[in-house]
Amino acid sequence: MNILIVGLGYVGMTTGLVLAEQGWKVTGLDVDKGKISSLRQGVLPFYEPGMDLLLTKHQKGGSIDFSSDPAEAIREHDAIFLCVGTPSAPDGSANLTYIRQAAQWIGEYGQDYKMVVVKSTVPVGTQECISSWILDSMKDPFPFDVVSNPEFLREGSALSDALHPDRIIIGSDNAKPVERLMNLYSKLDCPVFVTSPKNAEMIKYASNAFLATKISFINELARLCDKAGIQIDQIAQGIGLDPRIGGSFLKAGIGYGGSCFPKDVHALLHTAREQQIRLSIMEKVVEVNQTQYLVYLDKLEQRLTSLRGKTIAVLGLAFKPNTDDIREAPSLAIIRHLVEKQALIHVHDPAATLPEYLQSASVRQCATCEDALRGSDAVILCTEWMEYKTADWFNLRKLMRGTAFVDGRNVLDGKRLASWGYDYMGLANG
Ligand SMILES: NC(=O)c1ccc[n+]([C@@H]2O[C@H](COP(=O)([O-])OP(=O)(O)OC[C@H]3O[C@@H](n4cnc5c(N)ncnc54)[C@H](O)[C@@H]3O)[C@@H](O)[C@H]2O)c1
Repeated sequence: MNILIVGLGYVGMTTGLVLAEQGWKVTGLDVDKGKISSLRQGVLPFYEPGMDLLLTKHQKGGSIDFSSDPAEAIREHDAIFLCVGTPSAPDGSANLTYIRQAAQWIGEYGQDYKMVVVKSTVPVGTQECISSWILDSMKDPFPFDVVSNPEFLREGSALSDALHPDRIIIGSDNAKPVERLMNLYSKLDCPVFVTSPKNAEMIKYASNAFLATKISFINELARLCDKAGIQIDQIAQGIGLDPRIGGSFLKAGIGYGGSCFPKDVHALLHTAREQQIRLSIMEKVVEVNQTQYLVYLDKLEQRLTSLRGKTIAVLGLAFKPNTDDIREAPSLAIIRHLVEKQALIHVHDPAATLPEYLQSASVRQCATCEDALRGSDAVILCTEWMEYKTADWFNLRKLMRGTAFVDGRNVLDGKRLASWGYDYMGLANG
């Protein structure tokens, strides 16, 4: 089959390269012409470990190319993977504008059989909407199937996640496209779960909602442990040994962010409202997450008496290490809060860039961690990049004016930092 990937973000590029790696011929289509021209020159428009090497390999080998012409791309391909964004609309629902546009192109430009594979995260019932959008924009009738195939990769380890997935979920009521899709994935070694399109769509939301719940659970518990003098990491380790609980996603910190958890939890809550159901656990998950960074900032403010006029080094912008993605990153809320409190902020991140709307006389991005720390009264670690975990904190202390150290990811050895003169603040890890 000729494969077309529509939407070349983290998911589209990963899917395209993984399919090329399995021996398929892939074309990538995006509306962003700048992205296409950059990709044609072999330059990735975002940071994802290992992806540049795989791009070079498959571009040289001729198994991946790029297009910005939807008419030609859709005509020439029979398997079309939809990987466009589904960001949050103002009411919390998933904005399906990009999905709809792509579906309409398929109807408009398709001539013969198309298998449309939906990898974007879309609300329950969208597979049916996509079918209608394709039908409604068809000039001459042609056969097609729409299959739900949600993606579970994690930014920062996207390639390895997609090359070694823990499961493949396929949502279709029709055996033929399931067989075709399983053939495309035949070299991937993992369980394949075939279910209805609606179930597949809900599995994706349920997965992210459950992981977000684990994070908010441990974060809220950390607030209690902090007051009670209990070490939250020990608790997480102890409960995580129970296979019914599992140890992952139990690290206390400033909260979750990124392009998926916040928007997917909001979209799930929106779906519930539409069905006149209250998901009170998920409402609390959001509430805990949106207030978690304040627990750390309150500690800092109490310690410094006031944040006004203080210089704060914010280390890490990205919502997690090994990515340059800053969508919904807690660092952004922290910077906004510090600006409101009239602090001066020095930001550093090894890969991510400060968004334009946050750049001002009081917020500047520094080229190195050392530059950010120089003359600062306090440091807030927002992203647990390896560079920060292994930094020479003994010597870095000499660059700072003050000693306050907020470990927003509970990843450093607080006792050691304290012995080097830092006023270390984690959450429930003293
Ligand atoms: N990023 C993740 O970690 C992740 C993981 C699993 C699932 N998802 C889901 O996958 C989807 C894509 O996420 P992403 O992070 O890769 O998005 P992204 O924002 O990085 O990329 C989306 C791309 O789609 C392009 N696009 C928009 N409309 C288009 C159109 N009509 N035709 C062609 N290209 C178009 C945009 O220009 C952009 O390059 C979302 O629904 C997301 O929720 C993301």
